[in-house]
Amino acid sequence: MVIQITYSYLISCVSIGLLSILSTILLIICITRGCNWRNIKLPPGEMGLPWIGETVDFYKAQRKNRLFEEFVQPRATRYGKIFKTRLMGSPTIVVNGADANRFFLSNEFKLVISSWPTSSVQLMGKNSIMEKQGDHHRCIRGLIATALSNTGLGSLVPKICRTVELHLNKNWNESQDKLSLYRSTKVLTFTIVFECLLGVNAEPETLNTFERVLEGVFAPPISCPGSRFSRAMKARNEIAKMLVEVVREKRKEMERAGLERSNEGMLLSRLVGGMIRGEISEEEVIDNVVLLVFAAHDTTSFAIAMTFKMLAQHPECLALLLEEHAEIKKKKRVDDDNYLTLEEVKKMKYTWQVARESMRLFPPIFGSFRKAIEDIEFEGFTIPRGWKVLWTTYGTHYDEEYFKDPLSFNPGRFEEAIPPYVYLPFGGGPRVCAGYQMAKLNILIFVHYVVTRYDWSLLYPDEQIIMDPLPIPSRGMPIKVSPKLL
Ligand code: HEM
Repeated sequence: MVIQITYSYLISCVSIGLLSILSTILLIICITRGCNWRNIKLPPGEMGLPWIGETVDFYKAQRKNRLFEEFVQPRATRYGKIFKTRLMGSPTIVVNGADANRFFLSNEFKLVISSWPTSSVQLMGKNSIMEKQGDHHRCIRGLIATALSNTGLGSLVPKICRTVELHLNKNWNESQDKLSLYRSTKVLTFTIVFECLLGVNAEPETLNTFERVLEGVFAPPISCPGSRFSRAMKARNEIAKMLVEVVREKRKEMERAGLERSNEGMLLSRLVGGMIRGEISEEEVIDNVVLLVFAAHDTTSFAIAMTFKMLAQHPECLALLLEEHAEIKKKKRVDDDNYLTLEEVKKMKYTWQVARESMRLFPPIFGSFRKAIEDIEFEGFTIPRGWKVLWTTYGTHYDEEYFKDPLSFNPGRFEEAIPPYVYLPFGGGPRVCAGYQMAKLNILIFVHYVVTRYDWSLLYPDEQIIMDPLPIPSRGMPIKVSPKLL
């Protein structure tokens, strides 16, 4: 009897043991395959190993700037335009196509919120616009957008022209066999943000400090001496220290002049004006200035570099573009300052088509992450609350369904209106780029000055584009340049 009890006890112990091992295995399979224990239909795809998922493949492809070709496209072919994966510990749904773009981008704050890696948030600052939702987002966006809206733009044009002219006179006036176009546009766009938006002199060391921060933006958030992230954080603190002084000085100046003027002028005055009125805090001003510098200069400099790359590879487009600028120059009144006017910039229609087509083929931003704030039903699948969603520019830019012969360079395709949520270098929905108009001015004004004043040619027309962490030409896009003989 005792033996029988002990035997049955043993059997039940073994069965319980086996059952728990089995259920653990099942749970692991469920977690790693992302299968569905709540009776919901997840999109197809592989979740890979716990935590790591498919991160290694993602980073490998990203480093070569072939995220679409080597990560997204093969999976989209296997599973369809919507598929699941796991990236950096987060279960993620990758979505492609105009309907998905419209759905996820326009449902910002309702179904999804923007979601950046921990290191990006810490380095940009937790008070920057990218971390804000609802009313807080609206308030900061309002302050930024008014400075960069149509009324603000008119006064920006002569400022940008002056900065471009000074930059070119200083760096391009001698004939040179090797000048890094990308480096030059980076310094220039950084100077434009600092001097035209903030009213602060851009010192070369400040640009270096900002670049040190950028190096840590997608690094693992490990704070130990010598880590990329720690170096970036140190640089970030140096910037914050410098900006605190700038912001406090601006505040004093504006208070001396009277609060009523705080709504005028450049972006920094707008933000500090908001601070004086108690709408935002000093930390919010600083974090948003840091974010704006990053948002504005790396993206714009890459867009300019790719525009020149495309012009060099397509002489027939360059010829049309040169005609447009010669015409503007010919009609220009010779008055005192001789800078371009907003009206003249608006005439650069073909140049803008060239720039848009360059950004279609080489979008400075691949796409971005969102996080589901509730279970979302989309195209017959459920995206569980807390999962990430990655929308991509390439998903429409490189799709025959939206752009005929998508890999060919054809600026003329922008003669026709492009349907919404198809062409997205500047994103869409409530988080559409707040600096779109400013980027457009920077690109057009720079192209005008260069093509009317210099002869130039690329040293390596087929130079590779790599990611570090944003796309950059691997050799800095060296050009041979000489002032035009007038
Ligand atoms: C060619 C140049 C540029 C490109 C391609 C670009 C692209 C983008 C994209 C794709 C987004 C949306 C990100 C998302 O949905 O998560 C964005 C947001 C933003 N951009 Fe730009 N950008 C450019 C230039 C600028 C400039 C010049 C400024 C400012 C002076 C700027 C300020 C911003 C801001 C503040 C946001 C955040 C908007 C929000 O969260 O409401 N960008 N940009």
